[in-house]
Amino acid sequence: MTAQPGLKLVKRDASGVDLAFRADVLAGLAEAQKAIPARWFYDDAGSALFEDITQLPEYYPTRAETEILQTRAAEIAGLIGPRRAVVEFGSGSSVKTPLLLSAIEPSAYVPLDIAGDFLRASSAALAAKFPGLPVLPVEADFMRRVELPADVAHLPKLGFFPGSTIGNMIARTATDLLRSMKDTLGDGALLLIGLDLVKDEEVLLGAYDDASGVTAQFNLNLLARINRELGGDVPIASFAHEARWNDPFARIEMHLVARESVSFTVSGQRFSMGAGESIHTENSHKFTKRSAQLLLAAGGWEPIARWTDEARQFSLVLAESGATRSAP
Ligand code: TRP
Repeated sequence: MTAQPGLKLVKRDASGVDLAFRADVLAGLAEAQKAIPARWFYDDAGSALFEDITQLPEYYPTRAETEILQTRAAEIAGLIGPRRAVVEFGSGSSVKTPLLLSAIEPSAYVPLDIAGDFLRASSAALAAKFPGLPVLPVEADFMRRVELPADVAHLPKLGFFPGSTIGNMIARTATDLLRSMKDTLGDGALLLIGLDLVKDEEVLLGAYDDASGVTAQFNLNLLARINRELGGDVPIASFAHEARWNDPFARIEMHLVARESVSFTVSGQRFSMGAGESIHTENSHKFTKRSAQLLLAAGGWEPIARWTDEARQFSLVLAESGATRSAP
């Protein structure tokens, strides 16, 4: 459903606590391997720190994907063709989105995001950059099928999902999302999606544990947010940021590791952790050409073109909405 003006997607209790945040944190801290969903990183402080991450010398994905969009723009545009409605899953980046939009002559731009304030701010900036392009933001949870504005109903769609955000989901969630995207975008849709590649472990670990400590701050900010918003007393200095390569799952994991045994309360509930025990806060799956192809196929998309940056660190795949059934 399209959000009504004034309809709040975030439910809060009388004291302003985000109920979904509290439920996720309390449930996650009660598990054997403690885990908190990565979406809760992004309060104002976390969003600003994430912007800083994308500028770090060690964090190659943003630069690599931007390089692909810059150097392969003509080829990408040739395959996509003009006059599609570009539907971006997420509020859009100030660098990548304009690169795509200037390359392909779209008929409309529809960013989808659950964070309404971010969405409105980035949409206004985008509209100013592209006078004449209808910019039609929709405040919605894109993990489910989204009803697009009536103005774009008749236009063929291009879904845009950069940043290897698909890699932050486990396979089952990623597949569900790819299928929802197919439903949202309709017949004849194309999808331009960024997927980060498996590479040297040292390079991967550096990208998620930089020398200047920005990623550590980003991870630890989750504990600060818990203390701020959920009346917690988590001893932040007793936790260390850690990035790990999980080889069987081909993913980087971020953890908050207790440096010593700790005990704390969140929303009145007590939790204890032994030294070395961790809270798992993020997965970032890395792909090969084949694993990317398999994931997309499972989600109903058939790759038609693939580009990498010069250093072959990152891939951008153009896929078409596949047939629901095919022989045999
Ligand atoms: N999807 C990107 C990645 O996995 C960006 C990202 C999401 C990220 N969460 C992050 C980067 C946490 C660093 C730390 O790389």
